[in-house]
Amino acid sequence: HLPSRVKLVDVGPRDGLQNEKSPVPAAVKIELVHRLQDAGLTEIEVTSYVSPKWVPQMADNAEVMAGIRRKPGVRYSVLTPNMQGLEAAMKPAPELWPDEIVVFGAASEAFSQRNINCSIAESIERFRPVVAAARANNIYVRGAISCTVGCPYEGEIAPERVEMVARLMKDIGVQHIGVADTIGVGTPLKVQRALEAALKHYDLDGVSGHFHDTYGQALANTLASLQMGVWQFDTSVAGLGGCPYAKGATGNVATEDVVYLLHGMGIETGIDLDKLIDAGKFISDFLGRQPNSRAATALLNK
Ligand code: HMG
Ligand code: MG
Repeated sequence: HLPSRVKLVDVGPRDGLQNEKSPVPAAVKIELVHRLQDAGLTEIEVTSYVSPKWVPQMADNAEVMAGIRRKPGVRYSVLTPNMQGLEAAMKPAPELWPDEIVVFGAASEAFSQRNINCSIAESIERFRPVVAAARANNIYVRGAISCTVGCPYEGEIAPERVEMVARLMKDIGVQHIGVADTIGVGTPLKVQRALEAALKHYDLDGVSGHFHDTYGQALANTLASLQMGVWQFDTSVAGLGGCPYAKGATGNVATEDVVYLLHGMGIETGIDLDKLIDAGKFISDFLGRQPNSRAATALLNK
């Protein structure tokens, strides 16, 4: 019962670039978004409206959102951890608003504190008005749950924690849950347990996987998710990514590698792998390194 079609959300411009030490100009981020949409991505996580003191790399959020040439059929999402973030995202004219916002919590108390400076319970209270205001304005609300299998501070995380946060998010009106393996420690059965926990409160259309590839398990975890019928994943072009508050965590699984996997299994994505590899090459060249994607490396050296 594998899905016949999969939707990939490229989180490269956000998750991928938030962790870069040297500044990436807004024009480069905008060009990356354009290249991703030209490659057939239908959802792109563009930026985040967080504190520039915490994450300086995303301080140009408004400039990036304003600079994107919107392509019909493409959804643009941004992270908004609180009302200040949502208000900033909705400050310009409605045509510049995101189609979707992401509130991001964690299944680990310690990670919640380190990442968003509050407890899990407090985070839900911060998200409540954000979710209500976004939905009142027809902006779709996704919730991300970090550390659903492991936490850099607390170690292994029980599925019950994931279920609890999914329930709390459901209660405040979050429409979709992203189950994140923030530090890439998950293996297939553990990831399936975490997804099952989210699926207690959301249906299959309302759950996606977000797997960092620190231990090289993300493709296996993607396949394990597909076998459960999960058909939406966050991936990052050229395998960019990492969270500044999760030490040692590397990038998200490369979009190129997931597309190669899916197409090889006869699963449609609507993505042109060659164009995607070019997009990954573009940003990797800018950053002065090779794309962190096995498929891209193989195809570029063919
Ligand atoms: P706080 O300090 O608790 O907030 O931060 P505060 O309300 O007390 O405000 C303190 C200061 O922050 C004030 O400025 C506010 O204006 C400012 P000051 O008066 O000191 O100059 N501030 C803001 N500025 C801009 N935009 C905002 C905003 N809110 C407050 N929205 C906050 C709370 C969440 C803002 C902070 O902790 C923060 O920015 N954290 C960064 C979180 C982050 O971006 N993490 C990385 C993304 S999450 C991720 O990567 C995981 C994910 O990929 C899934 C996975 O892999 O697990 C999604
Ligand atoms: Mg992430």
